[in-house]
Parts: sequence; C-alpha cells; structure tokens
Amino acid sequence: MKHLLKMLDLSKEEIFDILNLADKLKTENKNKIEHHILKGKTLGMIFQKSSTRTRVSFEVGMYQLGGSALFLSSNDLQIGRGEPVQDTARVLSRYLDGIMIRTFAQKEVEDLAKYGSIPIINGLTDFAHPCQVLADLMTIREFKGKFDGLKMCFIGCGNNMANSLIVGGLKVGMKVSIACPKDYQPDGEVIEFTKEYKDKFFMTENIMEAAKDSDVLFTDVWASMGQEKEAEKRKEIFKGYQIDDKVMAIAKPKAIVQHCLPAHREEEITEKVFEEHANEIFEEAENRLHVQKAIMVKLMS
Ligand code: CP
Ligand code: NVA
Repeated sequence: MKHLLKMLDLSKEEIFDILNLADKLKTENKNKIEHHILKGKTLGMIFQKSSTRTRVSFEVGMYQLGGSALFLSSNDLQIGRGEPVQDTARVLSRYLDGIMIRTFAQKEVEDLAKYGSIPIINGLTDFAHPCQVLADLMTIREFKGKFDGLKMCFIGCGNNMANSLIVGGLKVGMKVSIACPKDYQPDGEVIEFTKEYKDKFFMTENIMEAAKDSDVLFTDVWASMGQEKEAEKRKEIFKGYQIDDKVMAIAKPKAIVQHCLPAHREEEITEKVFEEHANEIFEEAENRLHVQKAIMVKLMS
C-alpha cells in the first residue's frame, strides 16, 4: 500500500492490518506507552474544506508518533491561485514525508499521488472518506467483536460516506443495505463494485426495508460541504431519511448508531437517538486518531 486514496484500492488484508495496528496503538495510548515511530517525519495537511476532527486528529496523531504536521490552507497555498497540482505535488514531495489532503475532486487526490513521490492520504473528497470509514470499521469491531454475520445500514445521501461505507463494509464481510432517494444514489463505480456481492448488498428508497434487523445504523448530513446552496431543496427531498425511534425499533435490539459528524439534529438523526447512542458516536470520533496513526505508520515509516 503506497497511498490511501479510496476504499476501493484496499484489499481485505490491508484493511485488517490497519485495524489491528490501530487497536494496538489505541491500547498503547491508553496505557501512556510512547510510540515515536515517525520521529523526524513531517506530514503536510492541505485543506480546501473545513474540518474539526480530521485536522486535529491528524495533527495530534503525528505529534504522538514523534513527527510533526503542517496545516496548509488552500487559501494560503499557490494551489489556491491556480498553481497546477502536478507542480505542487513535485515540490511538496521534496520537503515532506506525506500529504493528507481534503478537497472536492477525487482526481486532484489521484493526481497528487501520480505526480508526487510521497504517500498521499485522502482526508475527504466528494467521492470518498476512507479515513472515516476505517475508523467506523474499527468502532464496529470494538462494539460487536466481529464483522461476519453483521448487517450494516446507511440511510441518507449516496455521498462520500455512503460510497466508502458500502465498499468497506462489504470488503470486511458485512451485509450492507442503503436507503436513499432515487436521484441521490451512490457513485456508479461503487454500484459496479457491489455486483460482486449480489447477495450481500441491497439498495432501496424505503428506510424501513433497509433498516430491518440491522446491527449497525449509519447516517450523514443531507447536504455535504460544497452543497450549501442546495441545502433547502435537500431538506424537502430527504425528509424522512432520518434515524429515529421507529428505525431503531425495526433494527436489532442491540444495534449501534454511527455518525461521522458534524450531525444535524432533527434532520438525518433525532436528538433522542443521537444522545442515546452518543457513546458509540464519540468513540467513533476518537477512533479517527488511532486509525489515522496506523495509516501514517503503514505509509510513512
Ligand atoms: N468526520 C469528519 O471528517 O469531521 P471533520 O469534517 O470535522 O474533519
Ligand atoms: N458528507 C459530509 C461528511 C463530512 C465529514 C461532507 O462531505 O460534508
């Protein structure tokens, strides 16, 4: 594994390797055991969109690994004034040991990897959010102790989270169902991928059909970053695509709830369900730190 660009690129073995290392680093972290595996290394973090979790967890993670992280806002980089990504990649490759980038187009991340000579980590694009989904898988395994035999359900927009969860969930052996409005389905490349998993993947517009007997329920905002102008229209279209008590009642009795955050209460999830499952949701947020440290160790050590 040279980069982390999207879940589609990872094998099942690579996913489990990352999760196992993340579990080990989390235990060491809890026991205050120092692990300066990336001493002297520097990660550049390019942000073309806002972030709380991704920025802080990567920066703290790099510090805990003995290295340092540079926050690079695209407003301040020449890339924001049109310097081509091909040139940015070749320049930054001479200073840094790795780049984490959050941007709009997946192609930009792929181009950084193509033209640069250091590991590239996708910190969210319109297409994918692999760091988040690896943290989600880590959390599911922590709460459920396994993947085999579990059913995971995603309710909402077929966005970056849905794209990455479908691929990650199927690769580790879960059944995956998704409920989304018909014009808001996951990316075609992801739908193509699900054809290998005919009996394990199910997509519908009906949230109850999707949620039935689920062990893990996921949702995400109705309007993602970059879709702010569509927010009002989306509120109408996505009305009802919400995790509420009725959805929880049709899922398995011990179902857990995951949300990548930030959450919009009373839109994609009710305040009540959110607070009843806050422990699972904030463990998921914490696991960003541990899983991303594992990703950096795998790619940069
Ligand atoms: N879930 C997530 O990526 O959060 P941030 O946008 O705060 O980084
Ligand atoms: N789908 C959301 C995820 C945020 C972490 C977005 O892209 O804004």
